[in-house]
Amino acid sequence: MKQIRLHDTYFSLYISEDQIQERLEQIAQELNQTYLDKQLILVVVLKGAFMVASDLIKKLSIQPEIDFIRVSSYEGEMQSSGKVRNLLGLETDIQDRHVLLIEDIVDTGYTTSYLMEELGKKNPASLQMFSLLYKPANLKKGSPPDYIGFEIPPDFVVGYGMDYAQLGRELKDIYTRVTPPES
Ligand code: IMP
Ligand code: MG
Repeated sequence: MKQIRLHDTYFSLYISEDQIQERLEQIAQELNQTYLDKQLILVVVLKGAFMVASDLIKKLSIQPEIDFIRVSSYEGEMQSSGKVRNLLGLETDIQDRHVLLIEDIVDTGYTTSYLMEELGKKNPASLQMFSLLYKPANLKKGSPPDYIGFEIPPDFVVGYGMDYAQLGRELKDIYTRVTPPES
């Protein structure tokens, strides 16, 4: 099994590049249908969602507007603090517009429930959420994403935009934490 090391922690291959791309193709087709006659605004949550957003957007046949926001609830730890800071960076006026939030992963749900609330206050015509990964067992706040790439168990994952203490974002596949290194 392919293993990597980030800082002092080992991870093994969990979801391959091919699996990710195949699933994104399906999601893109769903979005093409849902937003066929609507001007969609994609709101990408940095940093983690940059890679999935880039690949998903290239598979769309509709012509979306794209904006980026930032929020941070993790600080180099492997457990959510439940603390969420401000929504930063939204430049687009989303009032009466159709908005889709793009996230890398929904864990406790604190981050996305906060973001959906804040975006909702700006009175968009519609507001939905896509998350590449979703850990249903950990959800404490808010609703599951409207579009989900993969439901996963409550283990810590890295790669494909997601980091462990800022490392691992460049990986094309998704890796999950393993306790002892296998030889
Ligand atoms: P939540 O607020 O607990 O749902 O966590 C949301 C954010 O925490 C995500 O957008 C990620 O940036 C980060 N996160 C949650 N789980 C993981 C993980 O397993 N690996 C890397 N980052 C994670
Ligand atoms: Mg994120």
